[in-house]
Amino acid sequence: MASTDTALPSLGDLDVQGKRVLVRSDLNVPLKNGEITDDYRIRAALPTILELLERGARVIVCSHLGRPKGTVVEELRMAPVGRRLERLLGRPVETLDTVVGDTALAASMSQADVILLDNLRFEPGESANDPEFAKSLAKLADCYVNDAFGSAHRAHASTVGIATLLPAAAGLLLENEVEKLSRILTDAESPFVAVLGGAKVSDKLAVIGNLLDRVDSLCIGGAMAFTLLVARGEDVGRSLVEADRIEEVKAILAHADAKGVEVLLPDDVVAAVSPDEGADHETVDLEAIGDRMGVDIGPKSALRFGDEIGRAKTILWNGPMGIFEIEAYAGGTKSVAEAVAAATRHGAYSVVGGGDSAAALKQLGLDDQVSHLSTGGGASLEFLEGIELPGIAALSKNERNA
Ligand code: 3PG
Repeated sequence: MASTDTALPSLGDLDVQGKRVLVRSDLNVPLKNGEITDDYRIRAALPTILELLERGARVIVCSHLGRPKGTVVEELRMAPVGRRLERLLGRPVETLDTVVGDTALAASMSQADVILLDNLRFEPGESANDPEFAKSLAKLADCYVNDAFGSAHRAHASTVGIATLLPAAAGLLLENEVEKLSRILTDAESPFVAVLGGAKVSDKLAVIGNLLDRVDSLCIGGAMAFTLLVARGEDVGRSLVEADRIEEVKAILAHADAKGVEVLLPDDVVAAVSPDEGADHETVDLEAIGDRMGVDIGPKSALRFGDEIGRAKTILWNGPMGIFEIEAYAGGTKSVAEAVAAATRHGAYSVVGGGDSAAALKQLGLDDQVSHLSTGGGASLEFLEGIELPGIAALSKNERNA
């Protein structure tokens, strides 16, 4: 079944009045020195929690944070997330320092409106999708809501194992992500341009493959563009190239050609002697790259990409155009962000995924000027590959919802 065909059990059909509802959210937010640097995922989780509270449910929220690999890592406790959730909800949140077991069970039976379990990945059973761990989670609640779109590509106990143990539904965020991303795959108005970037072409080959039947053009930047440029016979100096992918990329380019999909690649770049901040760099035409490496697309390429974006009615953007974290190499990514926001203002439908693209939009204050900013990184890419995500599939298999 294609991911887009999946009928999700909806929150509105779940009887939650007076019930304990376990909500699997994706509150995996970036932290620096114990402080949350971007709370977008927490904000995006609020509507489902608020709706459940309004309908008289008691809510037990759970999430992973980072990759602690089945053991307690103090820096990855949920406490800072709990404090931010409390502030954003405007009501008390009881944040536990345990995930399952007696303390969690007692808390689930208490009168607290909102409980936040500690990091699911402190438990080895979470990533292993251990049925016993899924049962311990299920004991904490009367029903289950999966709102963790960002984790829907993980077949874990809290996303898959538990989904058939309790009456279950998709949360509002999950439902919205599926609807917005499905529109890109099934109902995209032409011209449709996909702008892809990031370091590795290998991460995006499957998405490109699935998009070739749908898009009119592809604009490709970031280090991944250099593997495509090599496949086209260009010299890219010391730029990052995935040599073992060149044959696959050649086949994709031939396929694009056969389908009449135009593939735009950078023809000018910011060339640097190293990828480090402060390294000698200048903007040059690609043929003048010498033995330097490309760290951003150049302004002429940004303009070409911007023109293509400006003509589009549907835009998908995933991945930065250069080493965006370094200000001197962020120009291409910012130009794309501005072009996507401008096209959206003029009526295009735009979907943006991936942390760096989202960060660029936020830095420019343009994050509310795209049609949909996905909370999913890997999950949105896999969705756009046309893969059925395990967290979504598990919900539709729950026969208690029939
Ligand atoms: C993400 O940040 O993409 C999700 O929270 C999933 O995290 P993971 O890649 O560690 O499973």
